[in-house]
Amino acid sequence: MYFLLSLFFVPFTHAVIGGDLNCTTYNGTAFVYTPAAVACDNAISDASCAVLYAAPDTLYPAAGNDAERAYACYTTATATPAAVVPDMKQAALTNCAKTCGFCCQTDAYNCPNVQFPRLNCATITRSQCDSVTWRTIIATDCPSACGFCNQGGCVDAVTNCGNDLSICQTVGMQDFVNTYCQRTCGRCPSTTASGTATTSSGSTGTCTSYIADSSTSCAAWAANGFCTNTFYTAAQRRARCATTCRIC
Ligand SMILES: *[C@@H]1O[C@H](CO)[C@@H](O)[C@H](O)[C@H]1NC(C)=O
Ligand SMILES: *[C@@H]1O[C@H](CO)[C@@H](O)[C@H](O)[C@H]1NC(C)=O
Repeated sequence: MYFLLSLFFVPFTHAVIGGDLNCTTYNGTAFVYTPAAVACDNAISDASCAVLYAAPDTLYPAAGNDAERAYACYTTATATPAAVVPDMKQAALTNCAKTCGFCCQTDAYNCPNVQFPRLNCATITRSQCDSVTWRTIIATDCPSACGFCNQGGCVDAVTNCGNDLSICQTVGMQDFVNTYCQRTCGRCPSTTASGTATTSSGSTGTCTSYIADSSTSCAAWAANGFCTNTFYTAAQRRARCATTCRIC
């Protein structure tokens, strides 16, 4: 009888994030997920992730809750306390980062924010990430909050500029694209990675795709001015971070 009762009640009263506290914050009484923990999309379908990483007690990680992650998100063990098994965590990060509440550790979300951000990076919501008002400020100050780590501080203020690239050249649209389509149209200040698309395009002019970065640190380097630093030749910058620096 006790066993049956405990089956019903224990999971609901003892939801606790165990094993790995990445992407969580302490709210005063419990560790809870940050908005960035679940801000990304799963690489495979949500339905498949729900099968692979079924919530131990029906509640899945969400911003502000303390749902227990599926064990398979981080360990091969089947009971807590469970040691983190790096392979298991890597598989979860690659396929089902959202279902496992690990979004903050994926590449796009895993970079430093500025030292003194103008807003609290830990409380930025998904709707702010899509907001015309917030996006450019967040890209500069809190890139990790919205998955802007690979954007070098340069994002479009609106999210669908790419639908019609001709607007970048349309005479009557210049005020608009300068304000809202900075990244797509290469109008960011040259201190950001994408601004260099216009200033350093001397390499080979315009192109629509770039060779892959050969370093995983390009986002951080770009934030420190690597893309525009003439200490390095254009060829060196292209060899390391062509995509991040948008060098043809
Ligand atoms: C966060 O993740 C890293 C890499 O998986 C791990 O080494 C570290 O112990 C984790 N930190 C916490 C607080 O769980
Ligand atoms: C902290 O989070 C837990 C779990 O979601 C919740 O029950 C509790 O009320 C929260 N505490 C505060 C101070 O917000």
